[in-house]
Amino acid sequence: MAKKSFGLDSQVYEYLLSVSLREAEILTKLRAETDQHRASLMQISPDQGQFMAMLIKLMGAKKTIDIGVFTGYSSLVVALALPEDGKVIACDRDPEATAIARRYWQEAGVEHKIDFRLAPALETLDGLIAEGQTGSFDFVFIDADKQNYPNYYERALTLLRSGGLIAVDNVLWSGRVTDLEDADKRTIAIREFNQKIHHDERVAVSMLSIADGLTLALKQ
Ligand SMILES: C[S@@+](CC[C@H](N)C(=O)[O-])C[C@H]1O[C@@H](n2cnc3c(N)ncnc32)[C@H](O)[C@@H]1O
Repeated sequence: MAKKSFGLDSQVYEYLLSVSLREAEILTKLRAETDQHRASLMQISPDQGQFMAMLIKLMGAKKTIDIGVFTGYSSLVVALALPEDGKVIACDRDPEATAIARRYWQEAGVEHKIDFRLAPALETLDGLIAEGQTGSFDFVFIDADKQNYPNYYERALTLLRSGGLIAVDNVLWSGRVTDLEDADKRTIAIREFNQKIHHDERVAVSMLSIADGLTLALKQ
């Protein structure tokens, strides 16, 4: 059931999981159900989820945004790590996959922490800015359509407090970013996005090779 982490051979990855993964039963169950979905590879890996939960706890985060919900793993892992009064604004436009997500949030008893917005994510983010929520969020996870990554990133920077963190998924795109003959729109978008963050003085940056590549950008 576990998906391979990019850059690690499967034997080492299985070892890593066997000696470090502490996955709540509800998350394991959600992964098993998502495995039956035609787009199951979109789900984040369990070790990445556990890492994100640690970041949430480390920061004492309360207000978070999940851009790209799918069947709900990233929202659920964050909601489980948040305190009782924590919130996830969960953004997705797909009613079918997110119906699965909502079932699991309810079963996990964390649906009160998740404010689900079924809409194009940019509309939701612009709505939060228009409501005056600028500078009030602790953590934003970006994992939706790749061409919009620069737009999500700019909105996230606006919505985060100073010292808030953006985590951006799939920045290594299975290694395709290094293949200059790969002219797929998503590959080009991720390549350009990586360049943009590298030189952005507004954040401290770290690119991790966990899973499919995860960039952390800390707002100065
Ligand atoms: C890679 S999946 C997210 C995986 C999820 N983070 C998880 O842990 O399983 C990307 C999701 O982004 C959603 N998405 C793509 N473009 C979107 C947009 N413009 N607005 C809102 N959601 C979008 C898709 O419907 C899909 O469910």
